[in-house]
Amino acid sequence: MLEKIRDIITHINSFQAESSEEVENFRLKFLSRKGELNLLFDEFKLVANDQKRVVGQELNALKNLIEEKFKELSEKVNEGAGNNTRLDLDLSLPSTPNSLGSLHPLSIVRKRIVEIFSRMGFNSEDGPEIESDWYNFSALNFAENHPAREMQDTFFIEKAAVQKDDILLRTHTSNVQIRLMEYKKPPLRSIMAGRVYRNEAISARAHCQFHQVEGLYVDKNVSFKDLKDTLLHFAKEMFGKDTKIRLRPSYFPFTEPSAEIDVTCFICHGKGCNICKHSGWVEIAGSGMVDPDVLKNCNIDPEEYTGFAFGMGIERITMLKYGINDLRLFFENDVRFLRQFKGA
Ligand code: PHE
Repeated sequence: MLEKIRDIITHINSFQAESSEEVENFRLKFLSRKGELNLLFDEFKLVANDQKRVVGQELNALKNLIEEKFKELSEKVNEGAGNNTRLDLDLSLPSTPNSLGSLHPLSIVRKRIVEIFSRMGFNSEDGPEIESDWYNFSALNFAENHPAREMQDTFFIEKAAVQKDDILLRTHTSNVQIRLMEYKKPPLRSIMAGRVYRNEAISARAHCQFHQVEGLYVDKNVSFKDLKDTLLHFAKEMFGKDTKIRLRPSYFPFTEPSAEIDVTCFICHGKGCNICKHSGWVEIAGSGMVDPDVLKNCNIDPEEYTGFAFGMGIERITMLKYGINDLRLFFENDVRFLRQFKGA
C-alpha cells in the first residue's frame, strides 16, 4: 500500500490543469466520495497493526497534498479566467464583424433638404397625416368639384354630409401650411416634411404612399424673387454649386402665380441623358406665391402680408440623386438595397 501511496504522490506533484474542467476531474478522481483517497482510507482499515503508524502518516500526507493541490489548481484556473490568460480563449482570433445599420435613403435626403433650409432660417414643423378636407383641399382654394381634387386620387376615411368635413389621408403636405397660418401669425418661415398618400396603382413609377417636403414663407414684402433666390440657393447646396434652375409657369389652386421648378440635370450636367430624357433639365418642385384667398382663409391680411410656398417629392429627388429606377424599393426594406447607403 505504501508503494501505491507514493505513486499517487509522484503523480500529483507533476499534475497540471489548464481548465476548470480538468480541475473538476481532478476533484472527482481524488476527493469525491468514491474517489481514490476514500478508497485508500478504506484499505487502511485492513493494514496490519504494526504497519498502521507508517502507512497512516503517509496517507495523511497524501490527503494534505491532494487538498492543497486542489486549492492551488482552482486558484490558478480562476485567476487565469480573470486575466484572460486561459488557453482556451484565443485573443488573436478575428472578431465577428458587427454589422452597422444605415439610414434609409429617404431619411438621408430628407435630412439634407431640411438642413439646407434650416440654415436659411426655416424651422421644422409637422402636421397630421389623417386630415379633414378643409386643411387638405378647401382652405387651399380647391373649389368643390374642382378637377384638381380628382387628380389627387384621395383615400377617404369618412365621408361627411358637408364635403369640407370629409376625413381623409392627406394627399400632400400643403395641409401643414394652413395649420401653421391658422395657429401662428406671420412672420412664418417653415419647412415641413412628411408622408402623403394617393390612391394609385403601385408600380415602378407610382405608389400609394410617398414623402414630400413643403416650404412656406409669409412676411411683409415677400416677393417672387425671394422664392426664386431661395430655391436657387437650395439647388446649389443640394446638387452642386454649378446647378441652375428654371421656372416654368404652372397651376396650383393655392398659389398665384405658380411655377414648376427644374434644375440642370446633375447626372449629365445638361448634356442630355436618360434621367433628364435628353432635355438637360429635371423637375424637382412645385411652387408659387401664396394665393391671397388662402391667406384670407387663415385670417391673414393679404394687403399686409405676402408669401411663397413650394413642395417637393423626396422619393423623386432620391431616385435622381442615387439613380434608383423603381419606387417600390423604398418600401420593401430589402437589406440588399438598404445596405448600399451605409455611410452616405
Ligand atoms: N402640394 C403640391 C403637390 O403636391 C406641391 C406644391 C406645394 C405646389 C406648395 C406649390 C406650393 O403637387
